[in-house]
Amino acid sequence: MRLKDKIAIVTGAASGMGAATATLFANEGAKVVVADLLAAEGAAVVTAIEASGGAARFQKLDVSNEGEWSQAVADTIAAYGQVDILINNAGVSGSHPDLLNTDTWDEQMNINAKSVFLGMRAVIPGMQKQGGGSIVNISSISGFVGQNFVHMGYNASKGAVRLATKAAAVQFAGDGIRVNSVHPGVMPAMRTSMMSADPDVRRKMISAIPAGREGRVEEVAYANLFLASDEASYITGIEVPVDGGYLAR
Ligand SMILES: NC(=O)c1ccc[n+]([C@@H]2O[C@H](COP(=O)([O-])OP(=O)(O)OC[C@H]3O[C@@H](n4cnc5c(N)ncnc54)[C@H](O)[C@@H]3O)[C@@H](O)[C@H]2O)c1
Repeated sequence: MRLKDKIAIVTGAASGMGAATATLFANEGAKVVVADLLAAEGAAVVTAIEASGGAARFQKLDVSNEGEWSQAVADTIAAYGQVDILINNAGVSGSHPDLLNTDTWDEQMNINAKSVFLGMRAVIPGMQKQGGGSIVNISSISGFVGQNFVHMGYNASKGAVRLATKAAAVQFAGDGIRVNSVHPGVMPAMRTSMMSADPDVRRKMISAIPAGREGRVEEVAYANLFLASDEASYITGIEVPVDGGYLAR
């Protein structure tokens, strides 16, 4: 088992790539905190993990709320003892039809970018005390390049995640804390997708992918697993695209 006895918080774990990551981590021996706003969907992920013999608990968490982060970490320590792994995955789509909407900029930066900082600041002091930890921040191909159907606030938020990852990697490497970013390409539509859920738009997006298909959520979960695990013990501050070659063009 690649994460035996590790304690992992996965945000946005009620759905999509977060749910796949939480499930894979539990299969690999981690005790997993399924953190999300969606209580019923999160509880269903926990139930499925437990049914397969894994350990998990649901934590209601709004990742943009600093106080809720403190509570989530305190609850995790009370239940499981410490936090070894944080996967900052929760997010909202930027495929908004009004590309110049100011509220969308604020929402994107708050939920997709500030949340990642809040998550890191909530877990790092404990990781420093225990002598290490691994943080994986989920950015996107949109953290590298712009797209026609994506609000620039999404690109800015994912670019912020990419660079905050490097800053944290440099600042906390001496404490044994590794921080890396994963950049999914075109994946199944998010719950909040608008333009990118449209079949015509998706066809165009997929035609730009060298692999010729969208990604599967498990393919991102496996990248998260490697970076979270001790197999990646000398890897910090890197970017891992999981994009079927999109960024290689
Ligand atoms: N789907 C894609 O094509 C794609 C591509 C690149 C990157 N991403 C990124 O991957 C991550 C996961 O996306 P997904 O495709 O699994 O989407 P999803 O919509 O299926 O899941 C996102 C989860 O985040 C949760 N969430 C949203 N706001 C939250 C908040 N304030 N607090 C706590 N939880 C919150 C949602 O409830 C949901 O369970 C996101 O950061 C997204 O930006 C997605």
